[in-house]
Amino acid sequence: MELPFAESWKIKMVEPIRKSTRAEREQWIKEAHYNVFQLKAEQVYIDCITDSGTGAMSDRQWAAMMMGDESYAGARSFFRLKDTITRITGFDYVIPTHQGRAAENVLFSHLVKAGDVVPGNSHFDTTKGHIESRKATALDCTIDEAKNTQLEIPFKGNVDPKKLEKALAEYADKVPFIIVTITNNTAGGQPVSMQNLREVRAIADKYNKRVILDSARFAENAYFIKTREKGYENKTIKEISREMFDLADGMTMSAKKDGIVNMGGFIATRHEDWYEGAKRFCIPFEGYLTYGGMNGRDMEALAVGLDENTEFDNLETRIKQVEYLAKRLDEFGIPYQRPVGGHAIFVDADKILTEIPKEEFPAQTLTIELYLEAGIRGCEIGYILADRDPVTRENRFGGLDLLRLCVPRRVYTNNHMDVIAVALKNVYDRRHEIKRGVKIVWESELMRHFTVQLERLG
Ligand code: F0G
Repeated sequence: MELPFAESWKIKMVEPIRKSTRAEREQWIKEAHYNVFQLKAEQVYIDCITDSGTGAMSDRQWAAMMMGDESYAGARSFFRLKDTITRITGFDYVIPTHQGRAAENVLFSHLVKAGDVVPGNSHFDTTKGHIESRKATALDCTIDEAKNTQLEIPFKGNVDPKKLEKALAEYADKVPFIIVTITNNTAGGQPVSMQNLREVRAIADKYNKRVILDSARFAENAYFIKTREKGYENKTIKEISREMFDLADGMTMSAKKDGIVNMGGFIATRHEDWYEGAKRFCIPFEGYLTYGGMNGRDMEALAVGLDENTEFDNLETRIKQVEYLAKRLDEFGIPYQRPVGGHAIFVDADKILTEIPKEEFPAQTLTIELYLEAGIRGCEIGYILADRDPVTRENRFGGLDLLRLCVPRRVYTNNHMDVIAVALKNVYDRRHEIKRGVKIVWESELMRHFTVQLERLG
């Protein structure tokens, strides 16, 4: 008999978590203005709000922390991190930052100005925020297929080359760079193929533009290329990663995802002019160039994390767990963005809470229902997160309205996945009784989802 699949690690340390009663949760979510970001983590049983900074470090990462060099300038830990990044990506210039959005802030301060247009594939909300706050436009050139949640194609995160080419032809001089997000978080943790990265490179070269990879989940992207794209079956994750980066000019990285650290990020590039430009903003915003917002010990842990998580076994364990949860949802007929992505399940709330109008935010309503059902915290990646149009100030209802259930790396077991699946089934079974959603009573201008205050209707 073939042996079943099991994790490529064992557990050395545990952290207790606590269940709660429905009455407690009713009270807590009301106090949180029906915004799960406002809940205390202790009020949550299984936390799927994000896979960012929530992973469990390995014994080797913890051991590396003891080796942190906390020198202000020229710390050994910086060079260890830089060498690791250069070995994996081929980029010689590295600027550490405290997280991904800080990398965006530093690099975009140099590159983006008012009136610019930055084409890409479903820019993540902080990326979009850093572009729009500079009065530039984030132009989404994702393939249309990504919007059909039930369509199964292997690389649903891809850039549409036609849309990209049109953007470059139209906005030529206004385009400071192209940004490709791997994996495409907003479209459901969907990968981008090597073929697509090659097409983007060719178009960029034709118009003499540079390409940035928003690389938060680059290792998961490499896993999908290995397991889904012809010709990559026998390549290692490190070889595939290198090939992806070879097609780009630089990267911004939130190390809190595929670096498996709790905090950290960086910019890396092959171009001295980008490095020189970004340097000017790193020092005032983040800190001196050899720490830029990170402790020496954190740079050590990140160096180890990057190496570990560009190994196949670690990625296979992780992605198989996400697939396990997806299979459970399939048993119950719950619709989600197919095929399941790398870091999360994106449940299609529009298809579940069909009686709730867009204006009452179905995905947010589903998020609240799942929390009330079992203390599971997901988050809305939908109409609230989409913010208002900067010009018309209308809500943007054009995209998908999803409940994202992230799976933190190396944290929960498949028993937890079972609890999530059954809790969602229970909500799904009474979906027709849920007829009203929520209304916004307070919101901020940008990235409103973190602080929005809501009222329940009906
Ligand atoms: N790019 C992508 C694709 C991301 O998913 C994130 C963060 C960032 C950039 C910004 O990085 O958080 O380190 O500043 N995503 C988290 C999430 C917050 O929950 O998906 P950061």
